[in-house]
Amino acid sequence: MEKTPATSVLHDYLTPHGEILHFPLLGITNQAQEANGKRINATAGVAYNDDGTLLVLPSLQESFVLGTNSFNYAPASGIKELREAWLKEMKKKNPSLKNAPTTLPIVTNGLTHGINIACQLFLDKGENAILADKYWDNYELMVQMGLHGNLKTFPTFDGEKYNIADIERLALEEPIGKKFFIFNIPNNPTGYSPTRQEQTLIVNTLIRSAEAGNKLVILCDDAYFGLNYEGDIAPESIFASLASAHENIIAIKIDGATKEEFAWGLRVGFITIGGKSLTPEDLALLENKITGAIRANASNGNRPSQEAVLNLLNHPNHDKDKARAYTILKERFDTCKKTLTENAEKYADCFTALPTNSGYFLCLELLAKIDGERVRQTLLNEHDTGIIAVDNWLRIAFSAVEKGEIPHLFETIHQVCAEQKQ
Ligand SMILES: Cc1ncc(COP(=O)(O)O)c(C=O)c1O
Repeated sequence: MEKTPATSVLHDYLTPHGEILHFPLLGITNQAQEANGKRINATAGVAYNDDGTLLVLPSLQESFVLGTNSFNYAPASGIKELREAWLKEMKKKNPSLKNAPTTLPIVTNGLTHGINIACQLFLDKGENAILADKYWDNYELMVQMGLHGNLKTFPTFDGEKYNIADIERLALEEPIGKKFFIFNIPNNPTGYSPTRQEQTLIVNTLIRSAEAGNKLVILCDDAYFGLNYEGDIAPESIFASLASAHENIIAIKIDGATKEEFAWGLRVGFITIGGKSLTPEDLALLENKITGAIRANASNGNRPSQEAVLNLLNHPNHDKDKARAYTILKERFDTCKKTLTENAEKYADCFTALPTNSGYFLCLELLAKIDGERVRQTLLNEHDTGIIAVDNWLRIAFSAVEKGEIPHLFETIHQVCAEQKQ
């Protein structure tokens, strides 16, 4: 993690945590800002129409004529009808949740807020959050800078497959005790989701770990849920299996309107907790604790946004509008896949594409000699193009790139990489 800039005068005033707090200047958010206004901007995790306007669902946008009630406070845990409607949708999309003991989803100020609350509840200083090494960079801030614990990573892939052997090793390793895992499916940045078979293997591994006496907390970051494009991807969230898998497993589902409903700025997320051993009293206690965390931190969430998402869920055109947005993203994904497959041999002297089948993004892994940051700078300065560079890999947000531009985008990246090798 980037270091906090040294403070001078402030040092005498700040708490130890205040000293650590900082906004990383090399992070994804800043890289995205640098690409603002570029002709091709494949940086940020948003989606655009081909004409460059944001891909907003019309059935959502029409709610933004506010009635006076919208100016009232929302309850700290969120508007009850919205929480119920979100649970109903969740169960429709995840039939295995039918009899699982879960809380009602509690509304958070976007998913980030929900992840923070989950860490406050379940991840203590010095404890490890175990996750795949291709992860969303904000986990570093939430877990490490938030002083909750450490990130302990395993290689995301074993060749072309999801790396289940390392999940098994970490889930079963000594000492027996509490273990905290994060699964972000579909994944940011790779856009990979485990297949049905892989997901079953992961769940079975976690059950074995629980049987061995470990107390497992599994955070399921479902930000991009439902954006599955190819292959035999597990259709339900891993949360749906884990919420009733074993007495020693507590599963947390983090999701929301941000990516799933194409409403990034509305800041409507949800946290839902489930577990086989959780009694109605436990579930009520958890809802109470989460509501207390919200009350202490932000008091309550944004009411107009919550009302708009509720209207959206009840809107007759909701499914139709979402299907249209999905088709746009899938066509872009298919174009990426086709371009990368057809040119795999040519591109192999500079990069290879990591496995991908879902979500908003994909990753290119650069050959050792090529410097990702230099590639990014050249694309920005000489090719009017923005991408994200982290270590030796590039993240491409195809969600934000017009289908017709995609072959040109990969050609340009290849050209810049090839020039760098000379
Ligand atoms: C994996 C993942 N989780 C959560 C989020 C954050 O969602 P929100 O903007 O609602 O805080 C993002 C946003 O980029 C993400 O990629």
